[in-house]
Amino acid sequence: MATDPSSRSMGTVAMRWHGDSLELLDQRLLPSEEHWITAEGASGVAQCITDMVVRGAPAIGISAAYGVALAARHAGVGEWHSEINQAIRELAKSRPTAVNLFWALERMEQVFNSCDSLDDATKRLAAEAVRIHEEDLAANLAMADHALNVINAQQPISVLTHCNTGALATGGYGTALGVIRRLHEARLLERVYADETRPWLQGSRLTAWELSRDNIPVTLNADGAAAAIMASGKVKWVIVGADRITANGDVANKIGTYSLAVLARHHKVGFMVVAPSSTVDMSLASGLDIPIEERDGLEVREIRGIPLAPKGVDVFNPVFDMTPASLIDAIVTEKGVIQNPDITGMRVLFS
Ligand code: MRU
Repeated sequence: MATDPSSRSMGTVAMRWHGDSLELLDQRLLPSEEHWITAEGASGVAQCITDMVVRGAPAIGISAAYGVALAARHAGVGEWHSEINQAIRELAKSRPTAVNLFWALERMEQVFNSCDSLDDATKRLAAEAVRIHEEDLAANLAMADHALNVINAQQPISVLTHCNTGALATGGYGTALGVIRRLHEARLLERVYADETRPWLQGSRLTAWELSRDNIPVTLNADGAAAAIMASGKVKWVIVGADRITANGDVANKIGTYSLAVLARHHKVGFMVVAPSSTVDMSLASGLDIPIEERDGLEVREIRGIPLAPKGVDVFNPVFDMTPASLIDAIVTEKGVIQNPDITGMRVLFS
């Protein structure tokens, strides 16, 4: 039985694979409660992704891969082919924006298509899911090294981040938060300013929690404070993750990322996107082609059942936005760095 890559990841983890079952840390309840959910087969994993028990582009892809592995484990001998097929289709509908989901399912489907029995599928799909998980962790570590070279800090600096891109959003360590972790390890981090990230509050509930647990100096700020922080000269870089990067270097990420990129350019603060190659979608020409998820207005009108707005008021709740490549100074992937990204730079690494 392949071992759980989470056991090798640092600090907090989002999921635990036991070979025949998958546990997910319920991120909806953090930071007040650490509650683990055992996913009920592939359908259960799909529901956990939709409901944001597990979230963050790479973590969604890895969980979906384990979901396919679970589908094989639960399949009937006579119907295994159609049941696993059905599980892949169901998982693909769980969320629309992060391309890591579709990338992981495609990898699982390729393995599935070459399996000749249920026994073969059960073993090989589990092994592939573990491989996807391990590769993500390795990519995070490599990206942190590349990013440190780009930042090239000679003394401790402060940075600003958005959403949660840490161990909770990935196979462990983190993308943007992995870079911040590495800066801290290298004694080059003075402080992280963490946007609270309305409406779901990934910044206050998850990032501030992860960083505090790891004793990394963090200051939480309301999203609207980012401009004032940049104007004060306190931060040298804005470092964020991504949910999908298109062939011209445009980036979809958590709603509010685009405003940060505009602000960073105005204040001459560096803007860095950190994401594994599983987030790159060379099939889309530009960010305008990325499907942007809109979620229930309740996420804006209420917090945990407490009303914040008039009952039933109309709400616009897109949970991602698109930052054009022209506002990005560097895209860091495990394959290398693209400075001032454009279609040519993207093709060099991802042709
Ligand atoms: O809606 P979420 O919480 O899944 O959105 C997550 C983000 O937008 C992250 O910034 C992105 O996935 C990068 S995570 C490594």
